[in-house]
Amino acid sequence: MLLIANGTIIDPGTGFEGKEDLLIGDDGKIVGHAPYGELTADRILDASGCIVAPGLVDTHSHFRDPGFTYKEDLHTGSLAAAAGGYTTVILMANTKPPVDSVETLTDILSRGKKEAIHIYSAANVTRGMSGRKVNDLEALAHAGASVFTDDGKPILDEAVFRAALEKANSLGIPVSLHEEDPQYIRENGINAGSKAALSLHITGSDRMAEISMVERDTRIAEELGARLLIQHISTKEGVDLVRRARARNPRIHAEATPQHFSLTEDAVLTTGSLAKVNPPLRTEEDRLAIIHGLQDGTIDIIATDHAPHSTEEKSVTPLWKAPSGMIGLETALSLSIQKLVEPGYLAMMDMLALLTCNPADYYRLPAGTLAPGACADIVIFDPAARRTITKDSFHSKSHNSPFIGEELPGAVRCTLASGRIIYQDNSFGGISKK
Ligand code: DOR
Repeated sequence: MLLIANGTIIDPGTGFEGKEDLLIGDDGKIVGHAPYGELTADRILDASGCIVAPGLVDTHSHFRDPGFTYKEDLHTGSLAAAAGGYTTVILMANTKPPVDSVETLTDILSRGKKEAIHIYSAANVTRGMSGRKVNDLEALAHAGASVFTDDGKPILDEAVFRAALEKANSLGIPVSLHEEDPQYIRENGINAGSKAALSLHITGSDRMAEISMVERDTRIAEELGARLLIQHISTKEGVDLVRRARARNPRIHAEATPQHFSLTEDAVLTTGSLAKVNPPLRTEEDRLAIIHGLQDGTIDIIATDHAPHSTEEKSVTPLWKAPSGMIGLETALSLSIQKLVEPGYLAMMDMLALLTCNPADYYRLPAGTLAPGACADIVIFDPAARRTITKDSFHSKSHNSPFIGEELPGAVRCTLASGRIIYQDNSFGGISKK
């Protein structure tokens, strides 16, 4: 038995918050918690000054494996996840080959089982992510797909989208959508009309790219009474559309990324291509609308969109030609504390729900709670500790982060998956034996 002692347990899965010890059984499952001193075990982890929460769940991560393993692979992605406090991830399907066959999906899931975190995978909605022909969703569902998506691309053909949504719903698997209509985008990843776009002499990506797709897809999902997730929302109009759609069809959900609630379009002026991301960072008004959406439950999932790219790729000139995306697994918790909890927008419990039980519930994953009998996936973090992000901070193979040089609150001290330590930082004492 292992006792995580002297911490503050916050479990959004059950709503429990209190200064208690947490007991883990030899089977890697949670036994329960009780006031300090009441439980005993042969091994003890001292979590003094720390919050003890369910391991974080990221439902939007790119581990680039197969095909782009010079950026990340299943192993380095898992190390980055563990260092960021994540114990469960759903991988995005824009790999090479893309995850549009049972063979590729099975390969990822079986290699993923060898990693210390729990790895799930998305599969593509359409063959080759072409948007034209719906995949054999039934076969992909049986092979273990957690979600269907052509991430990085919307499904422009309405008939294809309707057919896919109906089929996915009959299989009980959600569809998640990257909502950017290319007809409104001249150069992607940079907000149209921003100072950055003007200084680069480009048009950029117009907000209508997102608004038009969210409008169409929430309308169709409502008509079909279907389950649907809008990915990484970036505009205030998009948030409003989801808010109104959810009031009529509660099966519509949305995710936000830490970058979209932390940064604005001006980050491109200071950090260049590191802040180039699809959909782009937008205005302060949009950023605040996303935070408001997180507060009122319109957006109920924080997902990282961890998108590693090499230094060479991100150094391309002019910068708008560099690929979009930034890594996020190792900064998401800190940014959520800094931008949501510290300014008083959300209580720690509510912020953690967005990172744990909400994504787990939506995707029906066995994660996101410290209830007795649950898998002992746990993050132990010091919310008050401050750390400066450097290139060397990252366990990811890539370090394309615009947060390098920033001092952020929140340090993950230890991460456990199935009751086993899979990450601990240098200052953490580790297990002592009784
Ligand atoms: O900026 C992005 N990069 N957004 C996405 O949706 C995909 C991602 C990638 O795969 O690099």
